[in-house]
Amino acid sequence: MKKLQPVYFALDFPTGEEALDFLEKHHLNGIPVKVGMELYYREGAVILQVLKSRGHSIFLDLKLHDIPATVGRTMKNLANLDVDVVNVHAQGGSEMMRQAVQGLEASEKERPVLLAVTMLTSSDQKMVERELLLEREIGEVVSHYTELAKNSGVDGVVCSVHEAEQVRESGMLALTPGIRLDASDSHDQKRVATPHVAKVQGSHSIVVGRAIRDAEDPYTTYHQIKEAFSNEIYH
Ligand code: C5P
Repeated sequence: MKKLQPVYFALDFPTGEEALDFLEKHHLNGIPVKVGMELYYREGAVILQVLKSRGHSIFLDLKLHDIPATVGRTMKNLANLDVDVVNVHAQGGSEMMRQAVQGLEASEKERPVLLAVTMLTSSDQKMVERELLLEREIGEVVSHYTELAKNSGVDGVVCSVHEAEQVRESGMLALTPGIRLDASDSHDQKRVATPHVAKVQGSHSIVVGRAIRDAEDPYTTYHQIKEAFSNEIYH
């Protein structure tokens, strides 16, 4: 199976040209990147080939959520693109997640890591109760989805830093977005934390978008984040 990297830079740019120019301009060629739906739906698989040829490890973040057979067959196609990490929404249920695993295994390429999104880090307790009509605490929902994902053969989950410890304890990989250098600057994310806190809480991997993209010096910021997350000695 392919490997999960410690830090992914979210390539949240409107076009491939802008994304590639940014990486070039700030000397970030070759770093692990996350390609989300904004970029993928614009550029298609070509952008993945370009990034791969430049040495980037790729997390293709399309968050699949459909009937099990469709997700299974789509996963085979995604594995054939030779990306390193892919994901589904845990809310699609255990049968969908099982078929996602089978789809990945049906490809001849090395199997990508499969993650299940538990609760988006842009959701908070109020939204979950009022709009999704889920009465349980977010932490409880995340731990239930993590168990479902684990029993379906999924490798890890996407969760907020606040749930990373319980996910790690359950033996699953924890990948956490919602990372800010200054936790008061949250944008639309409701459950945020710094890279240092993410590490202490047990995240295996973090995804960082705007904190790098909008930084005055993206190169230095990326390396600071990597250092803060990878360093075993906490300050
Ligand atoms: O800019 P920011 O660091 O908030 O970007 C977070 C990235 O992680 C975005 O690309 C978003 O789609 C993604 N993401 C998330 N919450 C999840 C899963 C993915 O914010 N649960």
